[in-house]
Amino acid sequence: MAFLADALSRVKPSATIAVTQKARELKAQGRDVIGLGAGEPDFDTPDNIKQAAIEAIKRGETKYPPVSGIQPLREAIAAKFKRENNLDYDWKQTIVGTGGKQILFNAFMATLNPGDEVVIPTPYWVSYPEMVAICGGTSVFAETKLEDGFKLQPEALEKAITPKTKWLIMNSPSNPSGAAYTGEELKALAEVLLKHPHVWVLTDDMYEHLTYGDFTFRTIAEVEPRLYERTLTMNGVSKAYAMTGWRIGYAAGPLALIKAMDMIQGQQTSGAATICQWAAVEALTGPQDFIARNKAIFQARRDLVVSMLNQANGISCPTPEGAFYVYPSCAGVIGRKAPSGKVIESDEDFVSELLEAEGVAVVHGSAFGLGPNFRISYATSEELLEEACRRIQRFTAELR
Ligand SMILES: Cc1ncc(COP(=O)(O)O)c(C=O)c1O
Repeated sequence: MAFLADALSRVKPSATIAVTQKARELKAQGRDVIGLGAGEPDFDTPDNIKQAAIEAIKRGETKYPPVSGIQPLREAIAAKFKRENNLDYDWKQTIVGTGGKQILFNAFMATLNPGDEVVIPTPYWVSYPEMVAICGGTSVFAETKLEDGFKLQPEALEKAITPKTKWLIMNSPSNPSGAAYTGEELKALAEVLLKHPHVWVLTDDMYEHLTYGDFTFRTIAEVEPRLYERTLTMNGVSKAYAMTGWRIGYAAGPLALIKAMDMIQGQQTSGAATICQWAAVEALTGPQDFIARNKAIFQARRDLVVSMLNQANGISCPTPEGAFYVYPSCAGVIGRKAPSGKVIESDEDFVSELLEAEGVAVVHGSAFGLGPNFRISYATSEELLEEACRRIQRFTAELR
């Protein structure tokens, strides 16, 4: 009898972590490596937020929190949804978890039975299918196309829905493509969902505050209020406030679902760290000017990377609306020979040859369920991004 659980055999290790690890190893060997794999802002958490945590410690806010979160944070979350998304949630309809990741896990644990299906548009954030698998569900992938800006089309959604569908996962702006849906695009998907009342929507709005130009962020329950009763709106402070290490995520939705998630969390972590919750109160209620400043920096980086990649032979890079990722196609280099003599047959070959030849670490698209592409995280300095793109240009120019 195997000691490890069967569910584990369905789970893959994270490709993004593997790339980061490989880059670290090469660096340790003395190689000059630029890592563009990591999905976290390179900024420090703002001082007012750090200060709020220090003050919480000094006040003695160091005990177990209520499982779903401290009331001031849950009220701040409800106020945030009203202020920024025009969504009415009572604070009791909110829950705080140990990062957005735990919120997603709670939701799947609370709802998935064996055989239940979760529709996941490709390319997807690597953790969705793995979480679904751990919780005993089945992922159904709905493909998007580069020509559609990697956005799910209503026909593809319609085709993916079956009587067993429990959830559709929406992630806008998206990790890995950076694609973000306009209000009209969400409305068109909502029309399909209205025909299938058994399907719930889990919207992962983690990158809400990272959209560029004149793009306006919208979320599905706001665009189609008839979906409010079957939507879990998820968000967090990790990306918007450069707080990845504080591990605070949150969601709001129908009370019965929130209570079920609370029950799971109560047997699992007993809630997110109290001190970090106080820091998150400051993030959501304190000055917000940090967000606009960062957005401007990210937008300049995005524009730089998109323009330089489009000047690389065989690479085609659409301009995404948000997040801090681009998802270029490398279809134009498939079949060509790398300096090592190896013929590039897949995006996985492309990224490993690029790392070997030029020391640039990016993640292959097949890890996100759609290729041949690769993901670049531009959450790093312009100087490094420029150098990395120059190396990609040189690498692609040398392919034969
Ligand atoms: C799309 C998406 N959702 C959720 C998360 C998880 O967020 P957290 O770090 O708050 O757990 C990430 C982090 O990479 C993400 O990219």
